[in-house]
Amino acid sequence: MNKPYTFDLIKPDFIPSRYDNHIIRRLSSMKGQYLDQQAYQKMLSHTDRVLYEVYELKRPEIVGELLHGISIVHPGKVGQEFFMTKGHFHTLLETAEVYNCLKGQGVMVMETPEGDWAVEELYPSRVLYVPPCWAHRSVNTSRTDDLVTFFVYPGNSGHDYGTIEQQGFRKLVIEESGQPVVIDNPRWQPTGGR
Ligand code: F6R
Ligand code: ZN
Repeated sequence: MNKPYTFDLIKPDFIPSRYDNHIIRRLSSMKGQYLDQQAYQKMLSHTDRVLYEVYELKRPEIVGELLHGISIVHPGKVGQEFFMTKGHFHTLLETAEVYNCLKGQGVMVMETPEGDWAVEELYPSRVLYVPPCWAHRSVNTSRTDDLVTFFVYPGNSGHDYGTIEQQGFRKLVIEESGQPVVIDNPRWQPTGGR
């Protein structure tokens, strides 16, 4: 379809009134990502929980297009670490992304191949600009609510999940005394650049 279109983000969950793909990511797809691997295995042996969902509007994956949709990270923790997305670099590294938080509370954990890192808060109405070259992962720090964000990024970005799967993020977000805290990832391993 190459005509202008509209859709609505239907409250209270902000699921788009129309979408093309509904991606469901479960605990089993996050192997090796959570710090407390014992807690991960224990949780997985009970049920393969849904951690987050993405609703995508399909557009051609080419220069000039903007891919967009809704990301919903459910509340919960593996050990002390909050539920989060896999996180990724864009394959075409020099592509940015905009997020607008619609519901809940959380943070975006980000880093560059050069070793810079940043953690920015997300709450309703907040807009986050992720510049080119920054890997990004959404983390839900609420005990009760979904973290819902609207995202937009260039059609030709692509997704590189492998780098993060291998080396992890430098920073993790865990709960300490009832508060979200950013800590160094003791298992972070530089893979020597992408
Ligand atoms: C797209 C993007 C978001 C994420 C979504 C799920 O470039 O950053 O749409 O894809 O939040 O996270 P991942 O893709 O890391 O599983
Ligand atoms: Zn992205």
